[in-house]
Amino acid sequence: MTQTAQPATERTTDEPLILCEGLVKIYKLEEVELLALQGLDLIVRRGEVMAIVGQSGSGKSTLMNILGGLDRPTAGRVLVGGRDLLQLSERKLNAYRRHHVGFVWQQTARNLIPYLNAQQNVELPMLMAGTTRRERREWSNELLEAVGIAHRKDHKLDQMSGGEQQRVAIAVALANRPELLLADEPTGELDTTTAKTIFDIFHRLNEQLGLTIVIVSHDAQIATHVARVVAIRDGKTSSETLRQPAQTTEDMEDGEHHYVEYTVLDPAGRLQVPEEYRDRYGMGGRVTLEATEEGIVIRPVEGDERHVPRALVESDEPPPEQASLKSRLARRFGRKGGGK
Ligand SMILES: Nc1ncnc2c1ncn2[C@@H]1O[C@H](COP(=O)(O)OP(=O)(O)OP(=O)(O)O)[C@@H](O)[C@H]1O
Ligand SMILES: [Mg+2]
Repeated sequence: MTQTAQPATERTTDEPLILCEGLVKIYKLEEVELLALQGLDLIVRRGEVMAIVGQSGSGKSTLMNILGGLDRPTAGRVLVGGRDLLQLSERKLNAYRRHHVGFVWQQTARNLIPYLNAQQNVELPMLMAGTTRRERREWSNELLEAVGIAHRKDHKLDQMSGGEQQRVAIAVALANRPELLLADEPTGELDTTTAKTIFDIFHRLNEQLGLTIVIVSHDAQIATHVARVVAIRDGKTSSETLRQPAQTTEDMEDGEHHYVEYTVLDPAGRLQVPEEYRDRYGMGGRVTLEATEEGIVIRPVEGDERHVPRALVESDEPPPEQASLKSRLARRFGRKGGGK
């Protein structure tokens, strides 16, 4: 249960910066209603660097757009730094977007204005916020330095690589000194090595600025980059993978970490039983719970089975409890480039 990972250097505190309770988002398309978030609960602590994963359509971007003040939830509670985003007036929500949260999109081109150079791009949000010329210059220089792109500050979008553009995009997102950085698949268009440099920058910014960072990712390796990965399934948080400190001196020397995957129990006591378990044990719409010395045993009800594909019944795979972490992570988070 070990993998090589980044050292845990986060400046996490116990104070929740993000609090989502029973968050619901319904999109209305003519006659059809689409439930994108179905009562999602999530807490992100101030100073945390964490990731959100989930299959395509599970609601990741919907959540990010709500956290970024770009969209409003239909119901539930969403607090960021004590601000209730559902209740904020349009004017206050604008101010929130401008000063308290920074956004990095997957599509590198969407983050930058092509006819401005890197430095002008970083200075633009400051200009709009009324920052003085001198402060704009000083802070943009500092930010471009922090993301390691100072030597490209006069370059325009088409004179930079994808990785360089994303670094500038991070600097742009931080122009007005937000407390929260939201990155929706920031490394989706980058190769593994370049993606790693972006994660390194996130950790450095977290250390230097105490920034809280939420990253949506399809990268199967994401758990090696952050200490907590929350999986969303059908618009609800379903499981969390936490990185634990190395348990042996050998692991410590190798930079190895342990990972533990937890199933989320919501405030009403509900949990999601993964589909592969329901299939394997032939669970239908009802189960029985038995309290034992060890814990609670969930059993299928006879005659209540779901349709189970034969291949799964006769599978030679080890039972789910013993499936390797690597294969479970790959199944849960999808393989890089193939997760969508
Ligand atoms: N503006 C919209 N109008 C209507 N439906 C939407 C809108 N945005 C998203 N949806 C739907 O809501 C659901 C969740 O979408 P969302 O974009 O949050 O998924 P996602 O997890 O980000 O997926 P991906 O990994 O493909 O980016 C999907 O079924 C999607 O079709
Ligand atoms: Mg998305």
